[in-house]
Amino acid sequence: MTGTSTSATWAASGPEAGFAGREASRRDLVSTRQKEGVRGGTTGSPALVLAIETSCDETAAALVSERGEVLSSIVSSQSDLHARFGGVVPEIASRRHLELVAPVVREALDQADASLDDVDGVAVTQGPGLVGALLVGVSAAKAIAWARGLPLVPVDHLDGHVASLYLDDDPVEAPFLCLLASGGHTLLLAVPERGRSERLGTTLDDAAGEAFDKGSRLLGLGYPGGAEIDRLAQRGDPKAFAFPVARVPGLDFSFSGLKTALLYTVRELGEEETEKRKADLAASYQRAIVSALAGRALAAAEQAGLERVAVVGGVAANSALRDALPDARFAPLAYCTDNAAMIASAARYAAPVPYPRFLELDAYASAA
Ligand code: KG4
Ligand code: ZN
Repeated sequence: MTGTSTSATWAASGPEAGFAGREASRRDLVSTRQKEGVRGGTTGSPALVLAIETSCDETAAALVSERGEVLSSIVSSQSDLHARFGGVVPEIASRRHLELVAPVVREALDQADASLDDVDGVAVTQGPGLVGALLVGVSAAKAIAWARGLPLVPVDHLDGHVASLYLDDDPVEAPFLCLLASGGHTLLLAVPERGRSERLGTTLDDAAGEAFDKGSRLLGLGYPGGAEIDRLAQRGDPKAFAFPVARVPGLDFSFSGLKTALLYTVRELGEEETEKRKADLAASYQRAIVSALAGRALAAAEQAGLERVAVVGGVAANSALRDALPDARFAPLAYCTDNAAMIASAARYAAPVPYPRFLELDAYASAA
């Protein structure tokens, strides 16, 4: 729904005004769309997508073009709010999303110098995640789509993480093997083409990010723990402690034994010694998680006959994992942890639901 009022605004400050980068690309995109009268993308998906993500403790909104240009990506993290509980408290998360969702959407539009008149479709994370949290995003997206007469694209959060790869300047080409490692999931996926994936392996207990978070708590570091362990481990010896990497059959993972091993080591060392050897403990613990992830990802790629390996999700930000898989492609750092740009990216390969059918959409808690 590219309205004339907005095109007037754009014309007034047109490309010749000398705006660089993001600004210029938005204007180029809009003027191309206006010239060609484009109303939908080549895949039938909308040309300029407003996406909303509220599956866990990040309230996020983004504006992304059909070509994958990110015009704005706003992420408001609630992690400070949940830190003292050592994890996300669902009821608190839902209430905070409710307060933040409208200002975050407004900020995403402002930062892209756009208005709702410029938006061709709305995308939203439908699941998996915390249902109360998801419903805030789904309701907001429905309201915007309904008010503006736009299609709504429900997006699976995991497809969103995979689609973060397509926001790279030089995106990885399918087919590839994708390791998705986040706070809620650890998956090995075969991706034959954009928008499709087949699950080859998963975790039998904790997710990799959860293992980082629990380890961080045992070491008295902050929440979320992955980045804290990553930072501290830079100063430690990864071979100081031999933490076990659980060997489960096939292409699955198990991280709960590792956490228990750290717990026993910390108890044995006592408070003072643990404090002194914190960096070594962090580095050794990280090494165990990273070697399981990297080893299984390479084995899965070989078994599935896939040459390319890609890594997405919050744990893809980990520097040791990046070092352990030098030939793999990693999601851009800004789009590893939860964000809405990846949801908009995935929406390009998902089916839009027209009004009024999208009003029936519900959120779902767990992966199918
Ligand atoms: O993808 P994400 O934002 O949320 C989920 O969908 O779960 O991932 C969050 C997870 C947290 O567990 C966090 O500790 C982990 O990603 N994480 C990291 C790093 N940065 C975030 N883990 C290891 N190293 C990091 N640098
Ligand atoms: Zn996520």
